[in-house]
Amino acid sequence: VVTGASTGLGLETCRQLAGRGWTVVVTGRSLQRAEAAARTIGEAALAASLDVTSSEQAASLAALVEDRFGRLDALVNNAGAIFEDAHRHGVLEADPAAVLRSVDNNAVGALRVTQALAPLLVRSRGVVVNVSSGMGGVAEMDGGHTGYRLSKAALNALTRILHAELSHTGVRVNAVCPGWVRTDMGGSGATRSVSEGARGIVWAATLEPDGPSGGFFRDGKPIAW
Ligand SMILES: NC(=O)c1ccc[n+]([C@@H]2O[C@H](COP(=O)([O-])OP(=O)(O)OC[C@H]3O[C@@H](n4cnc5c(N)ncnc54)[C@H](OP(=O)(O)O)[C@@H]3O)[C@@H](O)[C@H]2O)c1
Repeated sequence: VVTGASTGLGLETCRQLAGRGWTVVVTGRSLQRAEAAARTIGEAALAASLDVTSSEQAASLAALVEDRFGRLDALVNNAGAIFEDAHRHGVLEADPAAVLRSVDNNAVGALRVTQALAPLLVRSRGVVVNVSSGMGGVAEMDGGHTGYRLSKAALNALTRILHAELSHTGVRVNAVCPGWVRTDMGGSGATRSVSEGARGIVWAATLEPDGPSGGFFRDGKPIAW
């Protein structure tokens, strides 16, 4: 299951997973767009609607996955957005409402979806991949984009909490930074192709049972939290 998968890194992650023989659930907040995206992948892809700000939709998705597959090998919490006004993203000018929306969407969204799908993941001893960003790393935290940075720092913390509470079940949980990628979010000036960016996400989604958990990775290599 990949969230926010109608476009960008989410869709490319689905494509690469399907290329490895996986069945993928392409979720998006517009079912129509998720269906169009799934069609570009083919039979290995099933579309489903999911806005990660809705616990009800997360529960419906869990019911769908239970009915269709009865298991879940990987959840990729990829959905994310930037809410701040491009000209008011400094910490002293940041709009607190936009900061809250950012944390709700980008971090609490992953919490909602993981809560709903956890029973299926535990059954399959699956993996959770939280698509984070170096911009959420506290060790090298810089200024600007306050809401986005806080949301990704919270997503990183969620990764550690989930790891602490789920590791005894065999479920592995990691955060991945895809690098700066040419998507709608990253813009045309970004240094990486979508395919390069998705590769590290797919690596974390397809970990062997003895693979790492509780880490923050870029290109399969640990980076500072
Ligand atoms: N591009 C980069 O340089 C970069 C760098 C580091 C991290 N990331 C992270 O990578 C992830 C994917 O971003 P991207 O670069 O592929 O950007 P993108 O092309 O803008 O895709 C973001 C996706 O997230 C979806 N989304 C946002 N809020 C959602 C919600 N509430 N419910 C469901 N879906 C939602 C969007 O859906 P709609 O189509 O409906 O808007 C869109 O499909 C994000 O978490 C982003 O923070 C990106």
